[in-house]
Amino acid sequence: MHRIQRYRRGTYSDVALEYYNAGLHPTCANFREASQYFLAPWFVKLIQIRSRVLETGAGHSIVSDWLHDSGKRVSIFVASDVSLRMLSNSPRFGSGSVYCLCDAKQLPFANNSFDVIVSSLGDPYNSAEFWRETARVLSPGGHVAFTTPSFEWAQQYRNGIDFAEFVMNDGEVVTVPSRIEEQREQERLIECAGLSVVSKRHIFEYEIQKTRRSPKLRAGPIVSGYVARKFVE
Ligand SMILES: C[S@@+](CC[C@H](N)C(=O)[O-])C[C@H]1O[C@@H](n2cnc3c(N)ncnc32)[C@H](O)[C@@H]1O
Repeated sequence: MHRIQRYRRGTYSDVALEYYNAGLHPTCANFREASQYFLAPWFVKLIQIRSRVLETGAGHSIVSDWLHDSGKRVSIFVASDVSLRMLSNSPRFGSGSVYCLCDAKQLPFANNSFDVIVSSLGDPYNSAEFWRETARVLSPGGHVAFTTPSFEWAQQYRNGIDFAEFVMNDGEVVTVPSRIEEQREQERLIECAGLSVVSKRHIFEYEIQKTRRSPKLRAGPIVSGYVARKFVE
């Protein structure tokens, strides 16, 4: 008997209820662990009591978890996402922090308004517009920390296509936009916006320790992280 596979182009709102279910989507859990692994040491360096911090595409906010676990305070923290359903995955959603529904490619903030911008697994909106907006709202001397699934990992599954696939619990396959560039091209995208890459590194599959290893992980880099700084004029 033939099985018919249902495919649909969707958005993260369509996958929001399942995205953080590590049993159903172990690759997402592995990516998040790798992203946190890259970002946490940078949070310690960059996030200070006077910092104004913006997280884009926050979903279950990594910054909010880090602030909670470390007991650190900041001057301003805004967790933003284009999807209310994804943002609602933040356990502290609605608890008094500032949550903002907005497109990372059209940020509703004034120029120079944040010292630190965090984008964990920001491949869905990894475009020239996003980087221009990031450079605009970042204050001079401010930093952005960005992660994405690695180009090497994506090559094995995507064959150059700018979509990520989620096989949902009911069997439907939902595809969402995802732009993943090779490291040199990613740097060019960031630097074209007037930012200077100060650090970059891959996180490898053997560095995953907390989450159950997805069958889709192969030996090699699985997440790539970048930290860039805005020039002081
Ligand atoms: C791969 S998930 C990562 C979520 C979270 N940062 C994490 O590390 O668990 C990507 C997130 O980006 C959000 N997103 C997609 N397109 C966006 C856009 N244009 N502007 C802002 N957020 C967007 C999605 O709703 C989703 O929450």
